Amino acid sequence: LDNGLARTPPMGFNNWNTTQCTATFNESMIKSIAEEFVSKGLKDAGYQYVNIDDCWAKTSRNAQGDLDPDPARFPNGIKALADYVHSKGLKFGIYTSAGTHTCNKAGFPGGLDHEQQDANRFASWGVDYLKYDNCNNQGVDAQTRYKKMRDALAATGRPFVYSITEWGQNQPWLWAQPVGNLWRTTGDISDSYTKMVSIFTKNLPLAQYAKPGAWNDPDMLEVGNGGMTPAEYRSHFSLWSIMAAPLLIGSDLRKVSAENYATLVNKDVIAVDQDPLGVQGKQISAAGNKYVISKPLSNGDYAVALFNNNSSAQTISTTAAAIGIGSASSYTLKDLWSKSTRSTTGTISVSVPAHETVVYRVAKGVRTAPSAGTHQVSDLSWD
Ligand code: GLA
Repeated sequence: LDNGLARTPPMGFNNWNTTQCTATFNESMIKSIAEEFVSKGLKDAGYQYVNIDDCWAKTSRNAQGDLDPDPARFPNGIKALADYVHSKGLKFGIYTSAGTHTCNKAGFPGGLDHEQQDANRFASWGVDYLKYDNCNNQGVDAQTRYKKMRDALAATGRPFVYSITEWGQNQPWLWAQPVGNLWRTTGDISDSYTKMVSIFTKNLPLAQYAKPGAWNDPDMLEVGNGGMTPAEYRSHFSLWSIMAAPLLIGSDLRKVSAENYATLVNKDVIAVDQDPLGVQGKQISAAGNKYVISKPLSNGDYAVALFNNNSSAQTISTTAAAIGIGSASSYTLKDLWSKSTRSTTGTISVSVPAHETVVYRVAKGVRTAPSAGTHQVSDLSWD
């Protein structure tokens, strides 16, 4: 959507993957997350949006037909919370559904046929981002529903990042570029390696449809929630970044281990995701469950991700020619997890531990003096 927003994939937080609708989802939690963003370096790393998901509202509209927040979770209202998030130099996002009700069985009211009223309400609260879900849509055509809310948001005059959450059901990659800033390409993620990989394989072939302001959304991050190993979370983060996916942290940052926290703030990997050229990485090869994905970057470098979806270490190999960087007499490879660099005349080959992903930033020529010139990357410690 050409609204001037999300020129790089949105970065931030959403509570759903960690709280769902439990009582832990409340004002004090969301305020703590905003505080963590500032105190723990997430804001500096580029995370900006603090978003709330389903179950924030009362189960019925008020006498004016407006949405009100659940007073138990948000005793000071949504505007006060948005103001607090803004006071930290961050932005605030909210959720509703393009249906009569949201997805939760408690029956929270949705935006269908209330688009302008709800958009106005969100704007009056200072909301900066809307995630618009697909439940209880009464069979109304998806494009009709999502365009109606796009237009209602625009009519408020307030800029909103607009997240189309129809789970890839109506192939939004074919129509949503002028409608939303991001569109979900799959069903919901869960905190499991198998699920993460299955979502990755569905989102990967859609590279051609992503561009600045309009991104494929393979759903929010599970990094730190505990159902995957640190190596698997590094793969999750690497793969989302090489696919120029939105980076919405879905874990309770107050409980995330130091190792997983370091994954979320790896600025070199984030720079791959956020590169202003805005190209989603493309699959170069995948034989033997050994994925090679290449992403061109704005300064002429390329990022390449080597993902080992096997339960034992594997050597994964490609070449500078295959990833598309063009010819040079030598290349510098920077490993964006170990931070070591080395040079090559064209072969890119490395032993990758089970379920791990090596991400190189590949530059033509000798970019920096290799700090570990005699070192093979396969010798480096991974933990
Ligand atoms: C759907 C969405 C999820 C989440 C829930 C909330 O399942 O895909 O991301 O927002 O609804 O009920």
